[in-house]
Amino acid sequence: MKFVVTAGPTREPLDPVRYLSNRSSGKMGYAIAAAALEEHHAVTLISGPVAIPAPAGAEVMRVTTGDEMFDAVAARLEHCDVLVMCAAVCDYQPAHYTPEKMEKQGGPFSLALVPTRDILASLTSRPHRCFVVGFAAETQELEAHAARKLREKNCDLLVANDVSRADVGMDSDDNELLIFFSNGERRKLSRAKKTELARALLKIILDAREKCLTKKS
Ligand code: CTP
Repeated sequence: MKFVVTAGPTREPLDPVRYLSNRSSGKMGYAIAAAALEEHHAVTLISGPVAIPAPAGAEVMRVTTGDEMFDAVAARLEHCDVLVMCAAVCDYQPAHYTPEKMEKQGGPFSLALVPTRDILASLTSRPHRCFVVGFAAETQELEAHAARKLREKNCDLLVANDVSRADVGMDSDDNELLIFFSNGERRKLSRAKKTELARALLKIILDAREKCLTKKS
């Protein structure tokens, strides 16, 4: 089976030396890619800038901005069976890129930002045949927000994680996942190493995809 996994943060440049980004390490997405490779699936890993090595055997597409990630996902969507959108994509980009390093202002300074494209929401509204797994990074009202994202972004399955905790989530080796299925079911994967959770999640994804295909046929 062909997997496309996005991982890590995106970066939106302000000037040649500064950017907007987030704390995503890429560990969860890389662990999912590794778990799929262990089971002999083909994996394209579309990665934002991270400091960890890619798993051997993956086709790696390195991107920086949300637009580059959008183009990479769009280019692989047609030939993909399972899309896992684990990347922490910046929601905003500077309204203007300044080609020279911005000079410090003598007082308060505010930055004009414009929304980036929502990769998941825009690509899943197009015809495609792949099983779509979204992620949700939450600091509050995790269940309500995740259930909304599952619906609004047209995912087959959504994996929520609490990014307000220091012991799990962004940049940690561990995570705790709450999985939302399109039929309303939910399942919790308790705190464990991201590498272990990725293997359990892979089984859940493949099982849900199988049920989804059986229902359609
Ligand atoms: N996502 C995306 N494109 C964006 C923003 C998010 O494809 N521009 C995807 C993420 O990869 C993830 C899902 O949408 O699979 C949810 O991302 P999350 O950051 O939790 O939510 P947002 O939609 O960005 O909403 P908010 O930041 O308000 O929680």
